[in-house]
Amino acid sequence: MGSSKATGVKIKGIGKYVPEKVATNEDFAKIVETSDEWITQRTGIKKRHITNGEPTYYLGAMAAKEAIEDAGIKAEDIDLIIVATCTPDFYTPSESCLIQREIGAAGSMAIDINCACTGFDYGLDMAKRYLQSDDDVDTVLLVAAEELSKFVDYTDRSSCILFGDGAAAFVLQKQENTLYASYLGADGNGAKFLAARALKPENVFRTNKEDFNMDMPEMKDHYFTQDGKEVYKFATKAMPNAVSKVCEKAGISPEELDAIVPHQANVRIIETAAKNLGVSMDKMVVYIDRYGNTSSASIPIAFCDAVAEGRIKRGDKVCLVGFGGGLTYAAVIFEY
Ligand code: UT7
Repeated sequence: MGSSKATGVKIKGIGKYVPEKVATNEDFAKIVETSDEWITQRTGIKKRHITNGEPTYYLGAMAAKEAIEDAGIKAEDIDLIIVATCTPDFYTPSESCLIQREIGAAGSMAIDINCACTGFDYGLDMAKRYLQSDDDVDTVLLVAAEELSKFVDYTDRSSCILFGDGAAAFVLQKQENTLYASYLGADGNGAKFLAARALKPENVFRTNKEDFNMDMPEMKDHYFTQDGKEVYKFATKAMPNAVSKVCEKAGISPEELDAIVPHQANVRIIETAAKNLGVSMDKMVVYIDRYGNTSSASIPIAFCDAVAEGRIKRGDKVCLVGFGGGLTYAAVIFEY
């Protein structure tokens, strides 16, 4: 198959940040009934970084600063900041405004998006569309920043062992005549399978005492709950399907990709996806053992480590693929 060239993105710079504090599987065995053996075999996770009070925007700003330096630009050059997060610090102001303030990029547009674990793919595609269609936007800062420890229920052993905190960022500019394709989607019918509740609608005038729960599972306040098996089933279908569809759009086959960077949720999901796609696990970039699942930050953190270790090089054809709450799914292909 000959790949088709399109208007796409140039990744000028990348950066990542994870908090210093680390929680190992042994640390979890002290707080819930679990073991290093169970967690390693069922998920591939060995440790994750967890904040010690640092807010989400701080993680994002640290990653953004590294990406800006890597790109060799100044913060004032940024025209648009897109921040993917499902764990913001405030309802308002947005994380993008807080990160803008922190890095000194006042004057840029600033938008938050919440697509859970697929947020970075969605953000990359939004950035590309802004860069392509608007002459005022030459440089985009795309950040994924997550502090999942805010809503993890540390008494639920089936979910608390999965998640970590972290952030990563790309500086993006427009590139003509390059490889680019995206395949994004969602199925809101699966909303109940992965959820963390915001504040309930209480107000002084309320007389209706019925709880508005939208067929969601029983939730403990704002804590995260999931149906692990349903999410697993969805993920093992959605990931290979999204890669196949985006490859079709790009006019290449999955074997022609140099690297696939999947959402880092469970190594068994990634192995099944590789098998269904007929590609070797060598193509799959997996660092779940180091960070656990950091939601929207998991794909770009893995990308940064793969670049640092020489597994992804300039000119490589890369696919970023994710699935997550919503339920959402997304895959993007580009040339690094
Ligand atoms: O970004 C997306 C986020 N969510 C996901 O990606 C979730 C996708 N799902 C999964 O990754 C897996 O379903 C889990 C890792 C959540 C669970 O793995 P599983 O192989 O599906 O285990 P299971 O739910 O079938 O549970 C098997 C057993 C159960 O015990 P019984 O009923 O067989 O006696 C669980 O109670 O394992 C038990 N179990 C644990 N045991 C030790 C569940 N969690 C643990 C634990 N340690 N942490």
